[in-house]
Amino acid sequence: MTQTPIRLAVNGRIHHVDAAPDTALLYALRNDLELNGPKYGCGLGECGACAVLIDGIAARSCVIPISGCVERDIVTLEGLGSRDHPDPVQAAFIGEQAAQCGYCLNGMIMTTKALLMRNPRPSETEALEALRYNLCRCGAHVEIMRAVMRAAGHVVEALD
Ligand code: FES
Repeated sequence: MTQTPIRLAVNGRIHHVDAAPDTALLYALRNDLELNGPKYGCGLGECGACAVLIDGIAARSCVIPISGCVERDIVTLEGLGSRDHPDPVQAAFIGEQAAQCGYCLNGMIMTTKALLMRNPRPSETEALEALRYNLCRCGAHVEIMRAVMRAAGHVVEALD
């Protein structure tokens, strides 16, 4: 039986993905659209590595079926900015060198972007709350929080 391709709006472009409706969005993004910003971490919606923006809200693409993404505006890390023109959040993470292995960064950046879209100048407490369910196993949390505060326009003291 043939299936009808599913229409997805990703990073401002329309794509038709030929996959089963219950395919996780993460797989469609990575395998069909070759967008490898979102990462596979836990596959259970627990770690945040696979985060994308759906209608401006950070969402865990490993547990969202593509059938639930029709008529939604999906943005991946690739859609935020480019190497030459990074989004301010990406630039802040680069500026703070907020990575060790870097695997969690997609989720950290996309969650920060969603936070700043709804609250452009969050307090540190608000930022911590927003990112508390994004896991980093390297322990780069200090640099990540510095990057979030920098992206939010706060003055970040230089490290000794
Ligand atoms: Fe999706 Fe961990 S891979 S939340």
